[in-house]
Order: sequence, then C-alpha cells, then structure tokens
Amino acid sequence: MPRIRFPRISSPAEAFNRSSYILILIVLVATICRYANLDAQDPYKCGALLRDGQWLDSPDFGYPQRPFQNWQAPGCILHEYNGPEIARCAGKGKILFVGDSTVRQIFWAMAKKIDPYYVEYERAKPDEHVDIMFARGGVTLKFLWDPFLNSSSLFEELRAYRKVVDPLTVSEKPVGGQGSGSGTGNQRSTIIFIGGGLWHARHIQVGALKHFKDAVDNIAYAAYSSATTGGVRTLPLSGEDGIGDRILFGPVLEPLYDTLSPARAATIVPEKINEMNQYLEQLSTRQGLNVLWSYSNMTSKRHREAYGESGIHVIANVASRMADVVLNLRCNAKAAHQDGYPYNRTCCNDYRPFNWIQVFVLLCSLVGFPVLAIRAVRARKRSRSNESGSITFALFNKVRKQYTNSDFAIFSSIALVLGILSTRGPVYSPSRRRCESGLGTSVRQSFLSRSQTDEWKGWMQFFILTYHYTGASNQLWIYEIIRILIASYLFLTGYCHTMYFMEEKDYSFRRIASVLIRLNLLASLLPFAMRTTYAFYYFAPLVSFWFLVVWVTMRIHRNRNEYLPFLLGKIITSAIAVTAFIQLKGILEFIFLILRMACGITGNSHELRYQLGLDAYVVYAGMFVAILHIRVWSILSLPQLHPTLLTEMISRYFALFRAFFVFAAAIVIPVFWIVTRRSQDTHDYDWWQPYIAWLPIVSFVVLRNSTRFLRSHHSSVFAWLGRHSLETYTLQYHIWLAGDGGGLLSTGLFQGDGTIKHDRWRDFALITPIFIWMSWRVAGATTTITNWIIKGEDTCEKLPEMSMR
Ligand SMILES: *[C@@H]1O[C@H](CO)[C@@H](O)[C@H](O)[C@H]1NC(C)=O
Ligand SMILES: *[C@@H]1O[C@H](CO)[C@@H](O)[C@H](O)[C@H]1NC(C)=O
Repeated sequence: MPRIRFPRISSPAEAFNRSSYILILIVLVATICRYANLDAQDPYKCGALLRDGQWLDSPDFGYPQRPFQNWQAPGCILHEYNGPEIARCAGKGKILFVGDSTVRQIFWAMAKKIDPYYVEYERAKPDEHVDIMFARGGVTLKFLWDPFLNSSSLFEELRAYRKVVDPLTVSEKPVGGQGSGSGTGNQRSTIIFIGGGLWHARHIQVGALKHFKDAVDNIAYAAYSSATTGGVRTLPLSGEDGIGDRILFGPVLEPLYDTLSPARAATIVPEKINEMNQYLEQLSTRQGLNVLWSYSNMTSKRHREAYGESGIHVIANVASRMADVVLNLRCNAKAAHQDGYPYNRTCCNDYRPFNWIQVFVLLCSLVGFPVLAIRAVRARKRSRSNESGSITFALFNKVRKQYTNSDFAIFSSIALVLGILSTRGPVYSPSRRRCESGLGTSVRQSFLSRSQTDEWKGWMQFFILTYHYTGASNQLWIYEIIRILIASYLFLTGYCHTMYFMEEKDYSFRRIASVLIRLNLLASLLPFAMRTTYAFYYFAPLVSFWFLVVWVTMRIHRNRNEYLPFLLGKIITSAIAVTAFIQLKGILEFIFLILRMACGITGNSHELRYQLGLDAYVVYAGMFVAILHIRVWSILSLPQLHPTLLTEMISRYFALFRAFFVFAAAIVIPVFWIVTRRSQDTHDYDWWQPYIAWLPIVSFVVLRNSTRFLRSHHSSVFAWLGRHSLETYTLQYHIWLAGDGGGLLSTGLFQGDGTIKHDRWRDFALITPIFIWMSWRVAGATTTITNWIIKGEDTCEKLPEMSMR
C-alpha cells in the first residue's frame, strides 16, 4: 500500500526556504494586482508626478532646518536637475514661462539651477513687470510677463508650438503684428509653462472668472487642433524625445489668505480661486489639459512654512522642487533614452525597456515561483531564477530616501541587540578540523579566527546596508565610517589571502580562478539581466584587483618568502609599484584604450584611479599583520633554531608588548575620531584616507583580540551575514534599493506619510526577508557553479576561509 508522505520540514534552512517562497508569492501577487489596478492607466507615473505627491521632510515631521527639499512623487524617484542636464533636455529649443509673478518664481528657480550667482544678482534688482530672457550654459529660458494670459506674444509662441507638434492644422495666415520683434518666436519651445489667475482675482472687479475661463479657452484653442489636449498620461513615451514638447498649466496657487495685505485680502478670496481651479480641473479631466496639481499638494494649508512673507509666493526650496517636477515630466524619458543607467529618474519614464531576455526570464519566474513553492527546494543550480526574481521587482514602486538620525539609531540598535543575543562561544567544527592541520589550526583559532572575520564583515555589512537604506550619505561622519569599513574589507582581503599563501603555499591557477570566479560571477551576470555595468557593482572589481596584487606580490620568488627581510622588501616594492600604476597618468588610460579597442569596454579611468587610490595602502597593512602574526606566533610556540635578541625579547616580554598595544589601540581610536572631525568635507577626508585608514582598523583588531574571552566569542547572526556579504552587497541594488541605488523599493501596497517609523517599515518588513533569502540562495548557487566550473573535488572548503565573501 502506497504511503502518502507529507513533506516534512527538516531544518531551519528549509523552513526559511518555504516561508520565503510563500512570502514572495504573496508579495508578488499583491503587487501585480496593485500594478494591474492602479498603474495600468499610468504605467510610467507621469500622471502621478503631475497630480500628486508629498514632502518627506516637511516641518510636521520635525525637520525645522531647511525643510521642503525632498519631494516624493507617488511611487517614483524625483530627480534634481542641474544645468547641463537641463541644457541637454532643451536641446536647441527654449523653455518658456508665461504668466504672473508666481510663474516667474519658478522661472528663476530653474535659472538658478543653471547659474546661481547671476540669478542672485538679477533678483536683487527692483521688481518690474517685464519679459525676461535668460540665455546661459547653453539653455534659453524665457519669461513672458502676461498675468492675464492674453498677450499677443503668448499667442505667437503657441502658434510656433503648434507648427512643431501639429504642422498640418496651422493656417498659413500670419497673425497680426508679426513675431520677428521678440527674437525667439521662431525658436521651438521644449516646455511651455503657463500660470495665472491671481491677477484676474485681484484686478478685475466684475466677471473675473469669465475672463479667466476665456483666457484658458483661447490658449487651448490656439494650441491644440482638436478637443483633446494631449494629456501626458495617454501618450506613449517611446522615442528619443520622451513625452515630446508640452504645454503645462500651473494651478492657481492658493495664497495664505490670512497673511495677505488688506487690499489683496479684499479681492483675492477663496471662492474666486476655487472656482478658477474647478474650471482647470474640468478641463484636465475632460480634455486632458496638463495641470500640475502636485503644486497644490506642495503648498496645501498644512504647510504654512512653504510660503514667504507675502503669503502669495513660495520659498526658494519649494519653487526649486516645482521646477524639478516640470523638468522630470519633460526630460526624464528623454535623458534615460540618451544615457541608460543609472536609472534613478523613475518618474514619467519607462524605466528600463524590457528586452526579450528579460521578458523570457520574467515569464519563467512568474510561472516558476508557484511551481517551486509547491515542489519545495531540491534544485540547487538556480542562480538564474534568482536573478529573474530581481527583475520582477521592476514592477515595484520606487520611493525617495529621507535621512533622519532616529531611523539610523533604530536600525543600529536593532543590529546591536541581534548581535548581542546571538553571541556564541568557541566553535569546533569537526569537518573543518580534518583538513586544517598543524600550524593553521592553532594560529587561526586564537587570533582573527574565521568566525571573527566573518562577524566583522557581517556587522560592517549591516552598517553599510543601513547606510544605503536610510540614505545617510550626506552625513560626513557616517561617510567617514563607511570609508573605514570598506578599507576594513580590503584589509581582510590582504590579511586572509596572505595567511593562505603563507600556510598553504598554493599559488595554483585553480586557486586564483576559483577566487576570481566566486567574486565576480554575480557581478558579471547581473549586467546582462539588469542593464547595469560591471563597474556598477564596484566591490567585486575592487577586491579582485587587490587579490591579484596580493597574489603577484607573494608569488614572485615565493621560495624565499620565509626570509622576513626579503618578504617585507617585496611588499614595500609592491606598494610603490602599485601606487605608480594607479597614480601615473597614462597607464590606466592606456589600459582602457586597449579594452575599448579590443572588446568595446569603456570605463572611466579618472573614477577608477580615485577608487583604487582611496584604499591604496590598507591591503598592505593586512599583509603586514598576517606576516607579523605568523612570525610572532612561531617565535612564541616553536623552539627557535637561531635565537636573536629580538626573538628573546618577544618571547620573554610578550605580555608586556601586548598590554602596550592594547593601550595604544584604546587611545588611537578616540583620537582618530576626534581628529577626523576636523575635516570639512568628503574631499578633504578622502585625501587623508589612504594614509590613515589602517590606524583604526589595526587598533580594532588588537582590541578585538585582546582577551581570551573576546577572541573566542562571536555573534552568529553577524557571522552569517558576513559569509553572504558579497551577495547582499550586490543584490541590495536590485531587491532592496531601487533606481540603481538612488531610492528604495516599495510594494506600493501601503499609503502613508513616507517616514520609516510610521509608514515604510511595512514595506521593509515584507521585502527584507526576501532580500536576505535571495542573497542566501544566490550564495549557494555561486558556490555550486564555481565548483562545477573548477571541478572541485576537495570536500573541505578552502575558499570561503580566505575570500572576500
Ligand atoms: C488682457 O486682459 C486685460 C484684462 O481683461 C485687459 O485689460 C488687457 O487690455 C488685455 N490685453 C490684451 C492684449 O488684450
Ligand atoms: C542618479 O545617479 C547619478 C549618477 O550616479 C547621480 O549623480 C545622481 O545624484 C543620482 N540621482 C538621484 C536622484 O539619486
């Protein structure tokens, strides 16, 4: 009789696996439903950008200094444009502003992105009601003073606009007055931004609304041939020009009625403003007129601080974001078409057009996930399906980050608690012991053991992930810590590989190949799937480079490595040679030239020089520590054949030496901290980094190993994360962060105020387990594939001990 066998969950790993599949399924289904329901009408989030949004840093959340900089359009990342980007977007055309002083403010805000000093100077002049031309940095901005929206220059511009977008419907009869006087009448307008209404309310006593309606109707009639006015939601984004040339209407911004001057307060009353906006609303829903309703959200009454003294005009930050909304609408898709990655302008952009490989992988994964969930987990070699999972995340929303100290503190305390709770004593794993014999075992078990280095990588990884998630990069002190952490990874690279080469004396090609494949597999596969570049993953190339440096350094005349002065001399020579390699102009350029001619690979030699130079010497510090460690240990534990004064001293006064170093380390770290507070900016700090980074790192090593208790205990959570640090580091860009690192991923299932504490923790709680699980699976797949390529038969893993994983 056949027995029905229920799948039994045999291990925590399998339980994790199962629950992750179920979680992924739930999140995926919910997200697809949301996508199908809400996003189908507005897949590129043009409408969302146009109509909606919220401040992530409004004073309500307790950001008293410099609020209103971080605008979150629903589900996408607003890009802050700079001068050259505006110039590229405008191309040969101009950007035209028409209306009253509220429009002029946005005109100046955009001009300020191009040339801030000139704008400060110009705006100090007395206010006049005139047209303004601003042509700088390759861009022409033009402002028409036309508060009643009925000037002849406006209609001339509209005619020129219609000639471009809809040439067949323009009659040949020239409008009276001719346009040659204004000079730019013939220049194409990439954007026309029109806003008015306040003057109608203020200056027209009878029939203000009717005048306003007529003005808007006339504009629509002049600009568009049919009843449809080409709303941005309906049009496809394809093509080089993105959404194409557009007319955008500003809503009539509600002033702060209670702060208006008495004369204004008498005429600018809520009823008039509301009626005008209602009319615009009618036109925008019925005919698709593009009205920037998001502006009303920016200044809605909850945000009194968004207004200046007059109660009519907004403050500079708000005006600047208003200009950004316009630019994102018009320029994002165009820029993405020109640049490709980084895809961090996700509003009004088709983000990344799927290619057929991605569509295929996506389909496979959509079909595959449910099957996998039922069939559980046997299959091992599934790195591809994991990758496809991250493509699936393209459906998700992308949101901006907003740094707060308290978020950072909360994440850090969670890490601390997890770390302390998971502390373990000494571990002896029998399988590992079998293959590490003699010297290796005892050396490693004392100083900087495997679990210790894993733990170190783990908590550093935790910190780096927190740093990316909370968007802390503009905090100098956190930036400095991150730089030290990255240097620590490289220190460990130098240390571990040197230990390995000294002890195992295995310089074989197989060893090199397996380390390199393991480091680079994921980073070299993902660019195909995600349309990023290999250099984007930053870490893999960096560590690979330094691994090769260590290998070459140790390899040359390796039979004399036992002779200490020779080895040290070799390391110093290597440091000088590598510095020359990095810093001498021409070498990296030459390599890139060959790469470009041979395989079409382009790279930025300047950037690479900077990246390599930043951590130039810390790898050598790791090598020194490894050599010193082996040396001292052999002095202490083996009988010396040729005792010298130095070895005598070391073996006799070792405790004293150790006490001295612990004392020194305990002083170095706080002093380092205090001294680096004095650097003004990242640039200044970066200059110092290569020379001083080893100080806190070596001090940490000394302190971490200062007592037997500290040496033998470690946190298993951090050690686990440390073993998967390469995968978490690489995958975070796709599964956890969004817009290739610039924002955060969000399921879009929850609506809230955008803070992590009250809103985003829900997305965090849903997505993080998936992220961790995928990193774990990918790590397993990488090992399998590496072993498969390199035909590994040794059962005890030598690799992870040393490599940067
Ligand atoms: C525009 O409208 C205002 C107010 O109705 C009027 O005073 C002005 O003369 C008009 N200008 C033109 C050029 O028609
Ligand atoms: C987008 O990426 C570019 C290049 O890495 C960067 O300069 C820019 O600041 C990013 N923008 C956002 C909004 O993150």
